[in-house]
Amino acid sequence: MNAEELGQSKLLNVVLKPAGWAMESRLRGVFQDPVKILQGAGLRPGDTVLEVGSGTGFFTLAAARMIGDQGRLIAMEPLSSYVERLNEKVRASGLGNIDVLRRDALDTGLESASVDNVLLFGVVPFPSLPLNRLLPEMHRILKPDGVLSVWLFPVAGLVPSFIRQSGFFCDQQKRNGVYTYRRDPANP
Ligand SMILES: C[S@@+](CC[C@H](N)C(=O)[O-])C[C@H]1O[C@@H](n2cnc3c(N)ncnc32)[C@H](O)[C@@H]1O
Repeated sequence: MNAEELGQSKLLNVVLKPAGWAMESRLRGVFQDPVKILQGAGLRPGDTVLEVGSGTGFFTLAAARMIGDQGRLIAMEPLSSYVERLNEKVRASGLGNIDVLRRDALDTGLESASVDNVLLFGVVPFPSLPLNRLLPEMHRILKPDGVLSVWLFPVAGLVPSFIRQSGFFCDQQKRNGVYTYRRDPANP
């Protein structure tokens, strides 16, 4: 689906738009520390990172600071109101290593083997990001030694076992609530 259609879909507008305030609330910061959670993903200075479903940017600025000036943070989000809000925050932060793209992550348009770390933070399971379509696309864009990082909130459900059994990723580890996976070398 193109970003325009997805951004106007009932699913996102009815289910997620009202949740925007919660994503940004100060209360959230009391219970969830974005820096600590991101440390579980093992981001390194200079990394190219794709953040899928960045929302209003709860993790975005902290992730961009971790990868530094030499890194690139691609924040992908289909809802135009969230994209606008995130762009405001990026401008105010003065950070120059963030690209906010209004796009459907099922078809990122990014080059193959171009990304060091993909963040799926608070975005799966969700009907507009079905894992059977998302995982092959994330596998395609990750470098051979790239990392898929998954923070599951509010429910983990069957996601970890689905990813393990998908044939696209292996070597599951868990740190600070974040599951990390390597591309499965048996699936080039
Ligand atoms: C629950 S919110 C989480 C936002 C953010 N990661 C956070 O933790 O604050 C899920 C986000 O995924 C986005 N999303 C849904 N389907 C998507 C898709 N196909 N591609 C990219 N983002 C998508 C939604 O618009 C929404 O902003």
